Amino acid sequence: MRIVKLGDIKENFRESDYNTPFVIPTETVYGLAARIDNEDALRKIYEIKGRPSDNPLIIHISSESMLESLVEGDYPKEYRILMERFWPGPLTLLFRAKSPVSPFLYGRNNIIAVRMPKHSELRNLIEMIGVPLAAPSANTSGRPSPTLLSHVIDDLGKKVNFYVDGGPCEIGLESTVFGILEGKPVLFRPGGISKESIESALQSQVAVKTTVSGNEAVVCPGQKYRHYSPSIPVYLFKGESSTEHMRGKADEFPNKRIGLMAPSDIRSEFPIHVYFDIGSSPPEWSRSIFTGLRELDKTCDIIFVLEIPIENEGLAIMDRLEKAATHIIN
Ligand code: TXA
Ligand code: MG
Repeated sequence: MRIVKLGDIKENFRESDYNTPFVIPTETVYGLAARIDNEDALRKIYEIKGRPSDNPLIIHISSESMLESLVEGDYPKEYRILMERFWPGPLTLLFRAKSPVSPFLYGRNNIIAVRMPKHSELRNLIEMIGVPLAAPSANTSGRPSPTLLSHVIDDLGKKVNFYVDGGPCEIGLESTVFGILEGKPVLFRPGGISKESIESALQSQVAVKTTVSGNEAVVCPGQKYRHYSPSIPVYLFKGESSTEHMRGKADEFPNKRIGLMAPSDIRSEFPIHVYFDIGSSPPEWSRSIFTGLRELDKTCDIIFVLEIPIENEGLAIMDRLEKAATHIIN
């Protein structure tokens, strides 16, 4: 196993490190990357993660010219506004592919998902490699996404030879996935860029579509799967009586070690065994929730989580918590 710091990547560039899946840091979460022209390496990403084969991979680019090599020129004019405002950064946009790419990159029809990551050193690395990188989050499928290199090593260990270490991820939640398909602006996965920020940039409302029902067409296959789950039960308490419900539920498990993940100001109210403090502001909460789920998974029997308001960062946080929860108590 070879680990190189993101800042030292230029001096340590070895072509051979990039022939099989390797780990990259991004501002959102760590990714398990492969060149988009290396079909074998793309397939290995699915094997290593245990990822369902119908869930395509986001393409990471370093420049506008890379985007032009991938997509048809007549994309919605709103994308230009969003790219100017939010790229490089945690916003993934859905485009029609210009020429055929690997099937691992396609969602519905010939739609691909593209983003330009924020770290300039990562963009330099993509530039040195010379080809965009496909990268899902670098966790075992279904587990909480990795926001520290140690999370990735816990999940993937020796299945991967080469790791790039960028320290803790700044945002801590995955990118927002957004697309205007058939003229309709839709947010398919809330993430690092809030719905409010997109609406303010576009001066219009966008729909949120994070689940699929019945025989609806699936645009973003990630919507279908359970996610972010520790190996122990996770109770999410929602609504006005959430704290009462939580106390009641705690009484049902007198012999279990309960871990509570909640914002700093909740702490004094609950004499719960293990407390994971996710901080006192929404950006801190975003950065902490995956670490919290992973930490409590190691030390407790049950995890309790309290609802937070869904404005701004809250929408993405609640999306992750609802998908992580085994029980939602309303
Ligand atoms: O922040 C992120 O987006 C991270 C970092 C590593 O960049 N990546 C990430 O990838 O979260 P992943 O694979 O864990 O989630 C990708 C999401 C999934 O919900 C997937 O269904 C959707 O994006 N997606 C990927 N390609 C797509 C496509 N061509 N069409 C529609 N949805 C797509
Ligand atoms: Mg993922």
